[in-house]
Amino acid sequence: VIEIGDLSKITSANKVIKGKTMGKDKIDEVELQKNRMQKMLAIGQVFRPSAPVNTYTLFAGRRKQLQNIISVLSQAGQHAIIYGERGVGKTSLTNILSEIFRDETNQSWPYVRINCDGQDTFKSIWQKIFRELQIITQKTGVGFVPSTQQKLISLNDFLSDSPQPDEIRYWLQQFGGLSIIVIDEIDRIIDKQTATLLADTIKTLSDHALETKIILVGVADSVDDLISEHKSVERALVQILMPRMSVSELTEIIDKGLSVLEMTIEEQAKQQIATLSQGLPHYTHLLGLYSAQSACQKDSLKIDLDDVQVAIRQAVETIQQSILSDYHKAVSSSRKTIYAQALLACALANKNDLGYFSATDVRAPLAKITGKPYDINAFSQHLNAFCDTPRGPTLQKSGFVRRFKFRFINPLLQPYVILHGLAKGLIDEKTLAEVQ
Ligand SMILES: Nc1ncnc2c1ncn2[C@@H]1O[C@H](COP(=O)(O)OP(=O)(O)O)[C@@H](O)[C@H]1O
Ligand SMILES: [Mg+2]
Repeated sequence: VIEIGDLSKITSANKVIKGKTMGKDKIDEVELQKNRMQKMLAIGQVFRPSAPVNTYTLFAGRRKQLQNIISVLSQAGQHAIIYGERGVGKTSLTNILSEIFRDETNQSWPYVRINCDGQDTFKSIWQKIFRELQIITQKTGVGFVPSTQQKLISLNDFLSDSPQPDEIRYWLQQFGGLSIIVIDEIDRIIDKQTATLLADTIKTLSDHALETKIILVGVADSVDDLISEHKSVERALVQILMPRMSVSELTEIIDKGLSVLEMTIEEQAKQQIATLSQGLPHYTHLLGLYSAQSACQKDSLKIDLDDVQVAIRQAVETIQQSILSDYHKAVSSSRKTIYAQALLACALANKNDLGYFSATDVRAPLAKITGKPYDINAFSQHLNAFCDTPRGPTLQKSGFVRRFKFRFINPLLQPYVILHGLAKGLIDEKTLAEVQ
């Protein structure tokens, strides 16, 4: 079931468009235009590169992570922390929990999701949360038959000026019952004291076996910090890693989206979109969006390889300014250098679940791209340059001498480098397939 308005008109829009391509009926040009617009709108609602998924209908894969969360939420005293690179789908996963967790009467559990920012303190975080939680208060009047007045009050009204973990526990207990509280983007919290108080709160909630479940969400490093500095919370806080999505999970995004749009795609075209996305669903949505629009412009209900080509070029042209400037900063040069090839090789290097690769992983793709073998010493200066100004920092370097690991600071830059390489001819599809 789809709740989004325009999608209900898909079937009729497709019918009009199909009628035209089959040359069957005489179709009013105005009517046809209207239906094409309808279709374009619907495509934009299904493939949404910049917004987290908010309905299970369009949610793909992530079965293992869902299972883990479900098991955490059903265990007394356990809470969860979801961590992974930016853009892998952490927020989307928490968004659909409210659809999944329902009580016996099919009511969803009370669910609150807030985003942290750089200004947040322990108090402001709980203010944001408590604003969303309301309880009923009763006031009994005086008199022979006292009247009672019921009032809905947000928990925020009760919060003291400098709340401590136990006070939070107390009010959540008053609120009572099963509920889910998601605190997203905890990596943006700067204040150290806030992190400590949050960890203490989770410990207190766990010790009192409250039915309120806290889910923290953040990029990996923030989780390391939180856990390593607050060992006592480790038992209460189950860590759930969100790796990049597999190719089959990414193709499921395309399949689910296209089934809502009542469109299809050539198998090869689908595989290409999934592979180019490099595990980041943002790009699957971006390429899905542009290739579906390209097909739609031809009044076709089936996406083919040509549409994907159009989509790649369009994605490269319309990429966010921040990614574009990161790219140019990293590779620009007035002399003939191999910065662009080296960055492309980094983008194609084998990576672990958190996006890390080593210099050794760069060697083979670089040889394929340039057509000649390079010794690690010959390109390690390039890798280092990417880690520093003025070319970066584009990559982040960690580890020890000879065992350095690198990672794209902005994960979204990595697939862009590949798309750009394809669009500008730094690599062709055959070589790309060999490297991957
Ligand atoms: N399981 C999924 N199925 C379909 N699309 C997804 C899924 N997970 C993420 N996406 C899409 O990927 C993009 C990034 O997801 P988001 O949840 O914002 O990532 P994060 O919170 O990790 O930065 C969004 O466009 C979102 O719609
Ligand atoms: Mg997010």
